[in-house]
Amino acid sequence: MNVIGKKVKRIDGLEKAYGTSKYVADYYFENMLYAGVVYANVPHGILKNIDISEAKKVPGVVYIATYKDVPGVNKFGHVIDDMNFLVPVGEKIRFEGDVLALIAAESMNAIEEARKLIKVEIEELPPVLSIDEAIQDKIIVNGKSNIGFHRKIRRGNVDDAFSKADLIIEENFETGYQEHAYLETQGVVANYTPRGVMEIYVSAQCPFYVQKDVAKILGIELNRLNVIQTETGGGFGGKEDVPSYIASKAALLSYITKRPVKLIYTREMDIKETSKRHPSKSYYKVAFAKDGKILGIKTKVYLDMGAYSTLSPIVMYRTMVHASGAYSVKNVSVDVYGVYTNKVPCGAFRGFGSPQVLVAIESIMDRAAKKLNIDPYEIRMRNALDRNKETSTGHVLTQSVGAKKTLEKVYKASNYEFLKKEVLEYNKNSTFKKLGLGWSHIFYGVSLGAGGQHLDGATATINVQSDGTINVMIGNTEMGQGAKTTMAIIVSEILGQDISKIRVLQPETLFIQDSGPTVASRTTFFSGNALKIATEKLKENIVGFLASYFGVGKNEIIFLDGKVFIREKVFSFEEIAKLCNDNNVKLSEVGWYKSPKLHFDHENGVGEAYITYSFATQLSLVEVDLLTGNIALKKAWVCHDIGKVINFEGAVGQVHGGVIQGMGYAIMEEIKQNNGKILTTNFNNYLIPTIKDIPEEIHVYFVEEEFSEGPFGAKGLGEPSLMSSPPSVLNAVSNAIGVFLNKVPVSLEEIVKNTKEGKL
Ligand code: MTE
Ligand code: MOS
Repeated sequence: MNVIGKKVKRIDGLEKAYGTSKYVADYYFENMLYAGVVYANVPHGILKNIDISEAKKVPGVVYIATYKDVPGVNKFGHVIDDMNFLVPVGEKIRFEGDVLALIAAESMNAIEEARKLIKVEIEELPPVLSIDEAIQDKIIVNGKSNIGFHRKIRRGNVDDAFSKADLIIEENFETGYQEHAYLETQGVVANYTPRGVMEIYVSAQCPFYVQKDVAKILGIELNRLNVIQTETGGGFGGKEDVPSYIASKAALLSYITKRPVKLIYTREMDIKETSKRHPSKSYYKVAFAKDGKILGIKTKVYLDMGAYSTLSPIVMYRTMVHASGAYSVKNVSVDVYGVYTNKVPCGAFRGFGSPQVLVAIESIMDRAAKKLNIDPYEIRMRNALDRNKETSTGHVLTQSVGAKKTLEKVYKASNYEFLKKEVLEYNKNSTFKKLGLGWSHIFYGVSLGAGGQHLDGATATINVQSDGTINVMIGNTEMGQGAKTTMAIIVSEILGQDISKIRVLQPETLFIQDSGPTVASRTTFFSGNALKIATEKLKENIVGFLASYFGVGKNEIIFLDGKVFIREKVFSFEEIAKLCNDNNVKLSEVGWYKSPKLHFDHENGVGEAYITYSFATQLSLVEVDLLTGNIALKKAWVCHDIGKVINFEGAVGQVHGGVIQGMGYAIMEEIKQNNGKILTTNFNNYLIPTIKDIPEEIHVYFVEEEFSEGPFGAKGLGEPSLMSSPPSVLNAVSNAIGVFLNKVPVSLEEIVKNTKEGKL
């Protein structure tokens, strides 16, 4: 490999560092209006009336839209349409961020004036604010029951496993919200152009979702909607479905006023209205043999969906598959329930429903290890997946299983046996500061899996200009994760052209085929494969031409280092591009890659859940101050099996970011609410890790167990990079204080309380 796996300069790095890339807030159009959102601000109630008559008179206000103005279908939903776009009079309000009206005005001041004059009558209802309350179904939030969705695995004989067990661990776990905290808040500019095409400039992960949802709201055809992804300053799952809800607001106002409309969310709006990671409650019972082998798992997991189901049923699928951890378990009973409450709807967040359960199962592994007197590393090795072993859904893995190699790498690289002694020694001599080591071993089903196969295809187009520069468009998006650079590396490897000559364009839905959502860490695999196919076709066009033009064999033509070698002659790539162009060679191609068929029994949760799996192991070293409860992640060693590293620096960056974002989830980040209202609506009170909180050392390693279907063998890394971190950090804290914790985020108060009570 000449470029793949090597250090390259990020292709969109410079413009981002210089601040010249254009984010959605940077777009201005002549005659543009601003949009304002009118929220319900109560958690549960019935909308009795909205009076906009006074507000309409405010100078500068151009239009105020309510449900009556929606020309298409006033509903959203991914699996079921259980959410109103604008709440109709007579219908229910289900959380504080429900939207009652939209204001289009010449200025933000006019919007603020008008907002004050809109008179809303709401009959308030008692809200349902917790999972426990919700599952009693005394007050129904949405649908027929608050338990809106259920997914399950039934495999083997769990009761038998428990009767044969040498050890049974039974524990409950709780995890909290996590806010995506992308640097760039949600935003959109909708521009209904005179030719009858609606242009939507939007910060998003999934432009095709925006296209379909806006089309439905406006009741117009898809070919009249061009969704143009603007530079996107982070998504982390928070810009999967949510941009549809944002874009529809501006689009409706633009459609009505026939003027461009801009809607940029403040951080407060964003935190209040948009999705988060689901809080969860889980009940685990796991049977072990003396040697530490897992015999069976029984678990019930409740996810707090909030007021609307949005992506929850899909998130729950991943929760279900990952509930037993990265282990080979034959007897499995998993129930995952999605529960409605009168709170913010939860959705996609890096890891997509898996961190909640990985925290639980990985804590149980440590508890079992302690009881059985086996090292936490060893118990993971004994249960780890391997070639020809089965996952908890009974998926027999035939290739690309680097699970144990990731464990071994971390064990060796961290000098674990020595480190363990050092920590013991330190703790012996230190009364109030304790060190702790925590392992985690995780797996991750790559892409959408059996439930989402119908969406799992992607396209890429490539063309070579006559000066040798190259344009690429893919149907997936760059949101910060480095996808553009990864794509450019693939092209550079195949065509030998320098990476700086390759431009990866932002997708526009009218110019590229729907390639599914940019989620589930699927871009490298799906877009990468599609682009590889397109680029190889293009290369074949060039090689075919050159072979006949120069009268040489095809294998005598080599693309390398920006040059083309033809027998003893050398040309620059630029010269070859011009030659091809002057000879009518086809210099553009399209590639399409679709998911291999997966066989899965949805009734029993058994079968090939995903096309393949990535694996990872993390060891964390933390320091806990028993007097203040303060936790510092000092060092981490992480190893990922991602099949093949294509974008080396990008991959290391993903792991650094993932470890830190996962640490934030485990020990810092907390959404505080009062009567269904979020109180922590900005970063002064919703605390995320800053540069002062990050570990001194993060050691990143890769295992490359190539996957035959992947581009050059690659699988996926975007989410697993986070997923190993919360369980590893939680286990390290438990190890430091000598008390197993069951709750994320770890509360400093609980540590201090334990200290006071003399438990630590
Ligand atoms: N990294 C950055 N810098 N910004 C992001 O928004 N999103 C994560 C992950 N890494 C994200 C990120 C999530 S949730 C996903 S699904 C993947 O990137 C998507 O990108 P991929 O398909 O290229 O892995
Ligand atoms: Mo990522 S949560 O799949 O967008």
